[in-house]
Amino acid sequence: MNILILGSGGREHALAWKIAASPLTTKLYCAPGNAGIAQEATCVALDIADHQAVIAFCKDAKIDFVVVGPEVPLVAGIVDDLEAAGIKVFGPRKAAAQLEGSKGFTKDLCKANNIPTAAYERFTDAAAAKAYIRKQGAPIVVKADGLAAGKGVVVAATVAEAEAAIDMIFDGGLGVMAEVVVEDCLVGEEASFFALCDGDTALPLASAQDHKRAYDGDKGPNTGGMGAYSPAPVMTEAMNKRVMAEIVLPTVAALKKAGTPFKGVLFAGLMITRDGPQLIEYNVRFGDPETQVILLRMMSDILPALIASRDGQLKNFNLRWYDDAALTVVMAAKGYPGSYAKGTIIKGLDKAAQIDGVEIFHAGTRRDGDTIVANGGRVLNVCARGKTVAEAQRRAYEAVDRIDWPEGFCRRDIGWQAIARETTKP
Ligand code: AMP
Ligand code: GLY
Repeated sequence: MNILILGSGGREHALAWKIAASPLTTKLYCAPGNAGIAQEATCVALDIADHQAVIAFCKDAKIDFVVVGPEVPLVAGIVDDLEAAGIKVFGPRKAAAQLEGSKGFTKDLCKANNIPTAAYERFTDAAAAKAYIRKQGAPIVVKADGLAAGKGVVVAATVAEAEAAIDMIFDGGLGVMAEVVVEDCLVGEEASFFALCDGDTALPLASAQDHKRAYDGDKGPNTGGMGAYSPAPVMTEAMNKRVMAEIVLPTVAALKKAGTPFKGVLFAGLMITRDGPQLIEYNVRFGDPETQVILLRMMSDILPALIASRDGQLKNFNLRWYDDAALTVVMAAKGYPGSYAKGTIIKGLDKAAQIDGVEIFHAGTRRDGDTIVANGGRVLNVCARGKTVAEAQRRAYEAVDRIDWPEGFCRRDIGWQAIARETTKP
């Protein structure tokens, strides 16, 4: 089969690496891709916001199946457009992608279906939102209702901070946002839960946990994710069952009933509280960098699973996993998530990749002649497998230390919660 992946990050590099290994793959393309992805796939300089251009390329290159990485094209309806042109795609249609595109949509769906999530109200008016905030008190969480590239959530420690967030959002600080959700602050441990869905049923993937804060000790500003590991010890077998029964399956059933079935990967951001799992948010695509560690642990061919999701055939499907743990350290350009330089030279990647169990995915790189240069905020995902999270961590940092990139930085403590649990195990 000829396959096209859309996207250009570490998640797409991991998908390309895994799909390239499938015996079903004849030719693999990625648009627009990056310097690392170019080792696995033919990169195509397409503007993926231009759906007609993507359709034209698919026809030209006889693409049999498209895998969409990021949320923006999904929310914009690229699956609807490609399928209407007769091209098969992995991912949700526009109506179902609202689970990520609109926080209000998801909160209302949870309320109507008794899916556990923080108590909330929706507002289109700043004064009413502030009155509610004063009534509820702090801590409290303010969310812009729309795609905000990870910047739309303020966990406010004080009422004043929450009110300032309301002003920032309604004054256009995140672009045009007509609505906010204000919700209770949940307390617990966060985990990411992924399930492939085919409109009818859902098949859970391995669990993972990411580190959202920029600096060691989970301090500093929120980012897209500075590292991740799998499995997540907080996601026990029993907790996985509860998340499927209380959150994922009711969501799939509700969307089916609404006539907008969800196909693709459903990514539930969870808070594991004392009373059980609560949904923080849904994403309608693979997580980045969680996918990098999940795919390192996947023994089965991923391609039949993605196709079964598109075709509504997941029911009797099974995926096999390696027992090994996996961990990834994100190397970012100094300054990220604020402003940073592009074009700095990265050396030592080959030497780093030689370490046993290590796999390096590129998140934001470009080839410049014989050199690889940084081309984004999050630049590299240095991943490793190991018998334990601690062993995977050791290998990943050994690889990080072989990379010669003075303009980059990374956290040195990825996986600390899991490793603390491993060392205190009886
Ligand atoms: P989101 O973009 O919805 O994933 O939110 C970003 C981050 O804000 C989450 O990963 C949580 O750390 C935090 N967060 C969001 N909603 C809540 C909540 N209701 N209670 C506590 N923390 C939250
Ligand atoms: N790692 C979080 C995300 O992909 O949004």
